[in-house]
Amino acid sequence: MNRIETVVSYCKDAEQASLLEAACRAALVGGSIIHKLYNTPHTIEMKGAINLVTEADVASESAIIASLNEDAPGISIMAEESAGDNPQAPTGLVWIIDPLDGTTNFAHGFPYFAVSIGLLKDGVPLVGVVYCPMQDELFAACSGTGAWLNGKPIQVTETRFLVEALVATGFPYDIHKNLDAVLTQMGTVLPKVRDIRRAGAAAVDLAFVACGRLDGLWEMDLQPWDTAAGWLLVTEAGGVVSDFSGQEYSPFIPEILAANRSLHPLLTELLG
Ligand code: IPD
Ligand code: CA
Ligand code: CA
Repeated sequence: MNRIETVVSYCKDAEQASLLEAACRAALVGGSIIHKLYNTPHTIEMKGAINLVTEADVASESAIIASLNEDAPGISIMAEESAGDNPQAPTGLVWIIDPLDGTTNFAHGFPYFAVSIGLLKDGVPLVGVVYCPMQDELFAACSGTGAWLNGKPIQVTETRFLVEALVATGFPYDIHKNLDAVLTQMGTVLPKVRDIRRAGAAAVDLAFVACGRLDGLWEMDLQPWDTAAGWLLVTEAGGVVSDFSGQEYSPFIPEILAANRSLHPLLTELLG
């Protein structure tokens, strides 16, 4: 069995299994386009002072949408490059797609980026897939069933103390104007933990929390496509996802805190 057949075989609900398969296939389609374009000159447009969009974002998004429409027709789609500003939480089934999370990394040749595809039903996550094309790592989760990396089950860490924790964060695109909130949080967390990473792709950060490479992630001002898939990866891998004060999470709120069960309350005490 290949890695997609393996994860699909774990998923007990037949409809959910076919949606998981569709998401995995679409993620590989988008990822292979990004991989091919990685070592070519890029076309870069600016969405804001430091917010880029490249030919790979656009090409990946079209290919992912075509693949999902073919494998799982009739489901609504919310994808970053075509969604517009202020996306609202939809009802029913919806694919939430980041065709290239970590565009700045991609544009600079820093190989930390991914395709992220989440499926929500009335705001509840059913399927989450994050695919890192340069590493050929396919993270997948199916609600109530588990989370896997290339077909092998993954778990969050068991780290219990902040001083032993490697945590990640990210900076919003308006950081030049709104530095204070980010610096305040860094000043609060940095002296308590082993170290902090700002690697530049929230979906990958969440996948890394799910598989135990990171102990936690917190970040403000994210969009639904940054977290819809990673949210389910972390919870299915045994972790907790909330807002900064520990309240219920939704990708339609801008802030996220994800960590294992021991560290999560300690981080909410610092950030909440
Ligand atoms: C960005 C990345 C980054 C995060 C930004 C996101 P993009 O997504 O996830 O890590 O800090 O807030 O917008 O623009 O590369 O898809
Ligand atoms: Ca993103
Ligand atoms: Ca993106």
